[in-house]
Amino acid sequence: MQLSDKKATLSFSDGSPSIEFPVYQGTVGPDVIDIRKLYGQSGMFTYDPGFMSTASCESGITYIDGDKGELLYRGYPIDQLAQKCDFLDICYLILNGELPNETQKAEFDSNVTHHTMVNEQLHFFLRGFRRDAHPMAVLTGLVGALSAFYHDSTDITNPHHRHVSAIRLIAKMPTLVAMAYKYSQGQPFIYPQNDLSYTGNFLRMMFATPCEEYKVNEVVERALDRIFILHADHEQNASTSTVRLCGSSGTNPFAAIAAGVGCLWGPAHGGANEACLQMLEELQANGGVAKVGEFMEKVKDKNSGVRLMGFGHRVYKNYDPRAKLMQETCKEVLSALGLENDPLFKLAMELERIALEDQYFVDRKLYPNVDFYSGIVQRAIGIPTSLFTAIFALARTVGWIAQWSEMLSDPDYKIGRPRQLYTGAQTRDVPSNRG
Ligand code: ACO
Repeated sequence: MQLSDKKATLSFSDGSPSIEFPVYQGTVGPDVIDIRKLYGQSGMFTYDPGFMSTASCESGITYIDGDKGELLYRGYPIDQLAQKCDFLDICYLILNGELPNETQKAEFDSNVTHHTMVNEQLHFFLRGFRRDAHPMAVLTGLVGALSAFYHDSTDITNPHHRHVSAIRLIAKMPTLVAMAYKYSQGQPFIYPQNDLSYTGNFLRMMFATPCEEYKVNEVVERALDRIFILHADHEQNASTSTVRLCGSSGTNPFAAIAAGVGCLWGPAHGGANEACLQMLEELQANGGVAKVGEFMEKVKDKNSGVRLMGFGHRVYKNYDPRAKLMQETCKEVLSALGLENDPLFKLAMELERIALEDQYFVDRKLYPNVDFYSGIVQRAIGIPTSLFTAIFALARTVGWIAQWSEMLSDPDYKIGRPRQLYTGAQTRDVPSNRG
């Protein structure tokens, strides 16, 4: 963090003395005003629900320029990474700050590959769930439960423990998601196979059965790997901030990541891909492309409570660069699987076309986000809608754990404890007739 020559001055209309604050510069992006001394000097808090203007931390992992529609992991543009790297390259990059050389990559891949099995007892824990439980409910439980199994990596002050827990989480997440899926299908769990890639192994654990050989389809493998890359990290979004806040109390990494999984589940965040596909399916069942105009009127009517899912973003006020890459992958997968005429894809393209020309969306700078097309890809691959957010959680785990680790290494890190503007009752006595 670099101190700027600029200073910020806060003045008050009631004649109280004004206060000067330091301003810091990042490498790119907006400067920040350091208001840490505000309460001590003025007895006042700032008010910023939803963190519209508040930087909660300093971070060197991911950068988004919402106006340009730019996303960088450790400085590298997402489109270059998506085209030139695989997901484990990205995991290495996000965790360590640099892309791996050949030796580092081989070592990292092998390390992750050799941590993919989960303690056998977790099967029994999973069997306690109803078969129709939502996969995110199952995943929240399973990830939290890891802390009961891997005590030897929960000393958060020990960098080696932190590294081991990061590898474990990245490695075991696909196993847990596939187990949750197999359980919902009443099928036997498939154990990881070490000669497959990270994503190929996940596909096999999802779709193989003990009855026959499973061959990984390369186009599908590449598409899912890209979904993982595009979801790997995204600055201080709601679930990442949840992981940081939860972790700031000093809790173990598995508990902190379980909190992130819970947050991601919501429809305004990771749950949007599931909600988006449901929206497309409903629209298709109720008239398809012919009814798009009518549906858009509902979306624009504030009283209808209907939103165009997969559209809009808190930070991107220009096209989400991930959506562009996802649309490209969507075309590739549908064509490889002979689904070029997929009606939901056509519907999505039509919705996008209309929205991009409609003044309502133009004025509010609403563009497709990554979830608009990722559901169609996942559906084509055979992933059920209810599992979409779990796939997102799998991919985001590396971002969560890297951000958690970065927080713990920050000398300025403190337990997160926001303040409030209290508007409830003042001190009062309990009525005397209550004994
Ligand atoms: N459909 C219709 N109108 C919308 C949409 C949408 N998808 N998104 C925003 N708007 C409108 C709002 O009604 C509001 O209009 P107003 O100014 O007339 O009141 C304006 O655009 C601004 O919207 P906010 O909700 O205030 O913007 P915010 O930054 O808080 O919300 C969010 C961003 C939650 C992503 C929102 O756009 C949304 O609900 N989108 C649909 C859900 C979705 O796709 N979420 C995925 C996010 S990406 C991710 O998590 C991977």
